[in-house]
Amino acid sequence: MAAIEMKNIVKQYGDGFPAVNDVSIDVEDGEFLILVGPSGCGKSTLLRMIVGLEDITEGDMLIGGKKVNDLAPRDRNLSMVFQNYALYPHLTVYENIAFPLRLAGKSDSEVDEKVREASKTLELDEHLERKPGNLSGGQRQRVAMGRAIVRDAEAFLFDEPLSNLDAKLRGQMRTEISRLQKRLGITTVYVTHDQTEAMTLGDRVAVLKRGVLQQHATPRELYENPANLFVAGFIGSPPMNFVPAKVDGNRVELPFGTVTIPEERAANAQGKDLLIAGIRPQHFEDASVVDSDKVTDEATFKATVDVVEWLGNEAYAYIPFEAPDEVREQLTQLEKDLDGESLRTQLVVSLDGASRIKEGDEATIWVDARKIHLFDPATGDNLTLDRDNAGIIPGGNAMAKAEEVGKEQDDVKPGSDAATT
Ligand SMILES: Nc1ncnc2c1ncn2[C@@H]1O[C@H](COP(=O)(O)OP(=O)(O)OP(=O)(O)O)[C@@H](O)[C@H]1O
Ligand SMILES: [Mg+2]
Repeated sequence: MAAIEMKNIVKQYGDGFPAVNDVSIDVEDGEFLILVGPSGCGKSTLLRMIVGLEDITEGDMLIGGKKVNDLAPRDRNLSMVFQNYALYPHLTVYENIAFPLRLAGKSDSEVDEKVREASKTLELDEHLERKPGNLSGGQRQRVAMGRAIVRDAEAFLFDEPLSNLDAKLRGQMRTEISRLQKRLGITTVYVTHDQTEAMTLGDRVAVLKRGVLQQHATPRELYENPANLFVAGFIGSPPMNFVPAKVDGNRVELPFGTVTIPEERAANAQGKDLLIAGIRPQHFEDASVVDSDKVTDEATFKATVDVVEWLGNEAYAYIPFEAPDEVREQLTQLEKDLDGESLRTQLVVSLDGASRIKEGDEATIWVDARKIHLFDPATGDNLTLDRDNAGIIPGGNAMAKAEEVGKEQDDVKPGSDAATT
């Protein structure tokens, strides 16, 4: 097992496009790190540079304190589990797991010991004589992991290993991978574009946008203290609501009313004309189910609910609102960056399952004003950030930098000669 250090890693493909742009991430020995971001943000590229399947254009890659930039993949002793975990269909589960050991010329007794140990950990004992074709997706996944385990690798690397599985199995496998990683205590880097996997699996999560690192922090830090609009919109489900806001002292004017936020959160937001407020769906509630001492006129507002989705334990209510052009522009761009997850000029409000609010009601909604974030619409920066609880945020403006890269990319992309020379 070993730590992995990425120091100012750059990857430029042949067309000059920086798929990974000056990324520095330290993965501690035994840590479970998630690389997350929308499609095309450079996750697989970064992972492939760790394993050695892709050349590093600039920067240093260290594994166990040793620079590996020029080492061939097999000399790095890492174990990679891909999205389509290539198992050999004509070999039994036993022989699939044994494969790397056979390749290394290990004795039958050593092979047997290692395979049985791995199979026990992975609960594959009763399947050892079966062929992969007869196994479920989850079982195949475990076989692929077994093959990685027997190698005693320095680290595990996963590239979206669960994306072929159905939702239920994905949930099970997630728990299994997490349990296994903790038991083995092996350094792990795991790529996904699924924020749920990122939140549930990782000790820490590195969020990438167009090859630029945005924030590297624990799931809780990302959720409670996102560095910018991009991270705020990416982490959390349903996504954070963004609405136009004006700040005067610690009073914040929102489309549906004015609330008071804590003094220290308002401090950096003074003197700006128009801001974007971020409020998570979970930080709203049906006022009639909130403790009465929390409900003041200050923190409640009336709104017409146009759709309610009741899920039993909770309900989502949708409330349309109007945004000025300036804010709408930033939100449209954001939606594009996030792979267009939701329509942003409606509020999504999460209500307790006991709530009786229904479609068409003019409802009284409570908002937890202490949890409201304020973002600068020009830079995307979180002005209410608590730096001490936000993990690592790269210097400069990472969100704007990623947007610059995006523009350059748009300039060279459409079949121009610049892209091929
Ligand atoms: N061999 C290549 N040559 C040129 N450009 C490439 C190559 N491989 C990837 N890219 C570009 O690099 C960027 C990052 O790609 P990468 O595969 O790392 O993204 P990703 O984050 O893994 O996305 P996904 O979630 O879709 O797998 C993309 O813009 C892609 O077009
Ligand atoms: Mg990928």
